[in-house]
Amino acid sequence: MYEQAHQLRCCGCGARIKAQEASPDFRCPGCGDLYEVEYPGWNDKNDRPNAGALRWLWRDRRFSNEPLDRSGVWRFRELLPILDDFNHAVTLFEGNTPLYSMPRIAKSLGMDALFAKHQGMNPTGSFKDTGMTAALSVARELGFKWVSCASTGNTSAAMAAYAARAGLRSLVLIPQGKIAWGKLSQAMDYGAVTCQLATDFDGCVQVLTRIVREAPIYLLNSVNPFRLEGQKTPALEIAEAMDWNVPDHLIVPGGNLANSSALGKGFSEMRELGLITRIPRISVIQAAGANPLAKSFAESGGALMNPVVAQTRATAIRIGNPASWRKAARVIQESGGWCLDVTEAEIAIAKAEIGAEGLGSEPASAVTLAGLKKLLADGRVKKSESVVLLLTGHTLKDADYTIDFHRGTLLKAEEARGHEQEIKLLEKNAREVDATPAAVLNVLKEIGG
Ligand code: F0G
Repeated sequence: MYEQAHQLRCCGCGARIKAQEASPDFRCPGCGDLYEVEYPGWNDKNDRPNAGALRWLWRDRRFSNEPLDRSGVWRFRELLPILDDFNHAVTLFEGNTPLYSMPRIAKSLGMDALFAKHQGMNPTGSFKDTGMTAALSVARELGFKWVSCASTGNTSAAMAAYAARAGLRSLVLIPQGKIAWGKLSQAMDYGAVTCQLATDFDGCVQVLTRIVREAPIYLLNSVNPFRLEGQKTPALEIAEAMDWNVPDHLIVPGGNLANSSALGKGFSEMRELGLITRIPRISVIQAAGANPLAKSFAESGGALMNPVVAQTRATAIRIGNPASWRKAARVIQESGGWCLDVTEAEIAIAKAEIGAEGLGSEPASAVTLAGLKKLLADGRVKKSESVVLLLTGHTLKDADYTIDFHRGTLLKAEEARGHEQEIKLLEKNAREVDATPAAVLNVLKEIGG
């Protein structure tokens, strides 16, 4: 038998350590790379979870009222045995998010079908909840009183909420003036100690890394490998929703590049355990102003990455020096996917189109649709292929962006050049109308309704 179900393996030099031995910044002391969680018991055929039994068990749990079963993360707990005692799990009933079809967008792209896995439908409105329930539960089990993160907004919202549920204190570092108000308001609402620093996300990470080395504060950025264990579960949900098949292609936004890594891990583990027979191509899309991995793929096939100074209105992914780039590069290479970047206008248009499907998303999520259009245009994705876009955040996260787009004040003329027609057709500005039925009916007449 194994002393513990899980251990950590350095992705750089392969060194293995017990989870309790990890340094506070989750960097390998030997080579400086990041860890991933592995489960030694799975190497032993007799100790491995049985694929058929798991499918039934997970399905059954959907009808259970037990708090852990109602979580779309802990429902799959056999694949993330990261706690000694599952009673330590802190859950807000995250996960179990919808897989929507997008018929209008599919039709306009000439595709048979297109799907969106909407992680914005999580309790705090982003995919971060799935990772936070996992890693914050570990923090609680380890006895930490304080947890912390540097964030472009969503991680801090999720961390603050889960910490509050667990009765832990939380410290948030955010780049001043560079995150959406909705997200900042969440950190305040859930009671975090929130510090706005006069730097960017990458600068906040540097400050926090020094703090956690000195103070007993548990780091909940995505360098924490337990975050990724929760964030791999949407891969399980996608496979389950497709009757244990997988799409041809999964397209994910890229910021700090942990999420793409986590989903890749989820699919690989399912294949290893015989739950699925192949993994989808996983492609990562970045904003053109925050594109270090896209550049890396263009210049060296993902072998080397140079940080950039990040600039995009999709503030969630305004990251110039992504911590998990090596993990993400491996997932892209091994799955046969691609890494591209898309412009501000392409993001804004894609976001409006997702809105017009009745789904909505925050700008960072919309890079997936903008990227898909490029992949279709150059033939890398075929129109007959099944594609899932991973929408990472709810449209209400950044209402200012949406309003600016529909008012026509979001993009500068040079950014919109060549897209003016498309934008005009999508803009749905709120009109000022006299408070009479005639005036309102006149609006309908004007637009030909
Ligand atoms: N989409 C949204 C809405 C995000 O908030 C983030 C990251 C990403 C995509 C990119 O995911 O970093 O795993 O590649 N937000 C982080 C935060 C950095 O602090 O909330 P990634």
